[in-house]
Amino acid sequence: MTGISFEAPEKFALAMDARDPLAHYRDRFCFPKTKTGEDCIYLCGHSLGLQPKTVSKYIEQELSDWADLGVEGHFQARNPWMPYHRLLTQQTASLVGAQPEEVVVMNSLTVNLHLMMVSFYRPTSQRHKILVERGTFPSDQYAVQSQITFHGFQPASSLLELAPRSGESCIRDEDIELLIDREGDSIALILLGGVNYATGQAFDIAGITDAGHRKGCVVGFDLAHAAGNLPLRLHDWGPDFAVWCSYKYLNGGPGCVGGCYVHDRHSHAWTLPRFAGWWGHDEKTRFEMGPNFQPMTGAEGWQLSNPSILSLAALRASMDIFDEAGMERLRAKSLSLTGYLEFLLSQHASPKFSVITPSDAERRGAQISIRILDNGQLCKELAENGIVGDWREPDTFRVAPVPLYNSYGDVYRFVQRFVAELS
Ligand SMILES: Cc1ncc(COP(=O)(O)O)c(C=O)c1O
Repeated sequence: MTGISFEAPEKFALAMDARDPLAHYRDRFCFPKTKTGEDCIYLCGHSLGLQPKTVSKYIEQELSDWADLGVEGHFQARNPWMPYHRLLTQQTASLVGAQPEEVVVMNSLTVNLHLMMVSFYRPTSQRHKILVERGTFPSDQYAVQSQITFHGFQPASSLLELAPRSGESCIRDEDIELLIDREGDSIALILLGGVNYATGQAFDIAGITDAGHRKGCVVGFDLAHAAGNLPLRLHDWGPDFAVWCSYKYLNGGPGCVGGCYVHDRHSHAWTLPRFAGWWGHDEKTRFEMGPNFQPMTGAEGWQLSNPSILSLAALRASMDIFDEAGMERLRAKSLSLTGYLEFLLSQHASPKFSVITPSDAERRGAQISIRILDNGQLCKELAENGIVGDWREPDTFRVAPVPLYNSYGDVYRFVQRFVAELS
């Protein structure tokens, strides 16, 4: 896939780092330190991305404009706050392969998921099911269950779960298609992760969208683990909506404002029910303070509140770096770096662990999930020694070599320590 023949000795990692055109981006990020003051081996960008060193500069500009201008900052700040979120529109649209009108940065992921379901989950007695992956992230499970009961249905009969075959960890494409084919007439909404948070499996967004639409289902994706990780072409692939957070691969910082995409076929869907707020109201008349809600065209029409400028400022720092590095180059490095991690682990194959992430590089991003039956002990011990991955119950150790700031040396040293701790 990458065309690179990996080699086990450390000198291979050093040579790869020396010729990596993206290696210098590492210096643009703050690394947590070990007890002895060295950079941690940080492989946790799938959970919380590192802080770009420029974040404070972006935030300080807004703090200083707030100090100097007070309320006038809404229109007179160097970057006026009223349209501030639009500073992120073009970059966000490119990142997810959408048209600018199809995206907006707002709220947080689960809030956006609910807002999307208010509009796009329209159950009837014939078509009331929501199709999800079994073991999807808990917040998604709670959100879909609560939407089902909100509409007077029961999760027991309205929640349909896709599961891997017995003895397998990932869900097969043909099983997804078969289920959609078989149950499609009763499915109101297909809601899958772009990348499953536990296994790291990337789903075929285009194929699933096609299969769902053929059966008349609405199709949405939670891209928490896909945005900034995989190249996406949402407009062409055609799902009805998608939501994501910006604190993982997008490095926007803890609790950073999330993202939302609504396909332009719904741009003028004024008749769709939606939960409204003043920031979604047509900006031309927003400050007339009238009582009747007239939504903006496109994804912006789903906004509720004026957004946190400080959070958006932090996200801008990271998105500017993303823009400069380019998703295509990042993906090329990611394929190679993740392939290298998989290769090194395979050199130390042992019954004590197994990789559950798909081996097909097209079906995964930067994450490798390792099944270990040790109750998270090894993850804790590695963390004590400055190697940061994370543990997801019941048995999964997740590590993500992030192409923007991780090196081949990180991957090499991680595997050395991992193997040493296992034995
Ligand atoms: C797949 C997935 N969905 C939802 C969430 C919840 O996100 P938030 O707390 O931003 O709503 C997360 C958080 O990690 C996630 O990984």
